[in-house]
Amino acid sequence: MDTMWKSRKVVVVGAGAVGSTFAFALAQKGLADEICLMDANRDFAVGQVMDLSHGLPFYPSVQIRLGEPHDFADAQVIVITAGAKQAPGESRLNLLQKNAAIISAVVDDIVASNSQAVLLIATNPVDILTQVALKRSGWPKNRVIGSGTVLDSARFRYLISQHCKVDVSNVHAYIIGEHGDSEVAAWSMTHVAGVSIDEYCPVCNGCEDWQAARDSIVRQVKDSAYHIISYKGSTYFGIAMSLTRIVGAILQDHNTVLTVSTYLDGEYGLRDVCLGIPSLIGQGGVKRIVQAELRPEELAGLQRSAAELSERYTSLELTGAAA
Ligand code: 2OP
Repeated sequence: MDTMWKSRKVVVVGAGAVGSTFAFALAQKGLADEICLMDANRDFAVGQVMDLSHGLPFYPSVQIRLGEPHDFADAQVIVITAGAKQAPGESRLNLLQKNAAIISAVVDDIVASNSQAVLLIATNPVDILTQVALKRSGWPKNRVIGSGTVLDSARFRYLISQHCKVDVSNVHAYIIGEHGDSEVAAWSMTHVAGVSIDEYCPVCNGCEDWQAARDSIVRQVKDSAYHIISYKGSTYFGIAMSLTRIVGAILQDHNTVLTVSTYLDGEYGLRDVCLGIPSLIGQGGVKRIVQAELRPEELAGLQRSAAELSERYTSLELTGAAA
């Protein structure tokens, strides 16, 4: 049953750099009628809301206010950004135990409100925490998703566009699997202006050794967060824009294909794991997974990614921290 929404209301849990930058980007886009910002540190959230609200005369019409647990009930989308962030050199998977407890507590509050929202997880390690939220909530799998590899795919498209000296809007490229070290570049799905990358390269004359360039691009995508964190301590602009893209597709029922983290139940031969996979996103979350024909090495990489995440999720279950 399609829930008729009174307004395009988005609740953001976590008012730190990611949550507040996302709220700012969403307000600028004029996609939401109401943005409610919450944080475990209430005073900090009050400060962020005040600061954001003072820009109201310059945004398209939107209400920005302090969120309370009752705001979950009529939210169309709830975005969780709360949690510890990576220290320099630390992997996202290292954050699992402490952030799983945070996500579980927030999900309990959301479920208690009888919300019908789409729940979007951004906290890392996002794929495993998406599965924690899905299991804990008991909600249908289309309504509990993660930011997945949407940011990685954006980085991938950007680097290819820079290398090939082509507008990024003409580059379609996808990173699939874990939002992390085991992610996979789906070169077989990469097109420049409708021309497959393998056909485009010979006419591009952009480089001497395309394989070396290809390997360098994938390395840069995988290491982006580590590099940015080593320079400035954390990342937030790229992930905030990625969240804005996902939430915009939900609020406007765009039917956009994005590599959100979603629960697999047989797709690509994988089960009981959340991974970044091209999915059709609209009102209500994931409408369907768009299964592409992957090359053997890409499918093998995806299977490795799934195995790594499943092992971590199982270890969490054993500690009782997962749902
Ligand atoms: C990023 O990839 C840290 O997951 C975050 O920017």
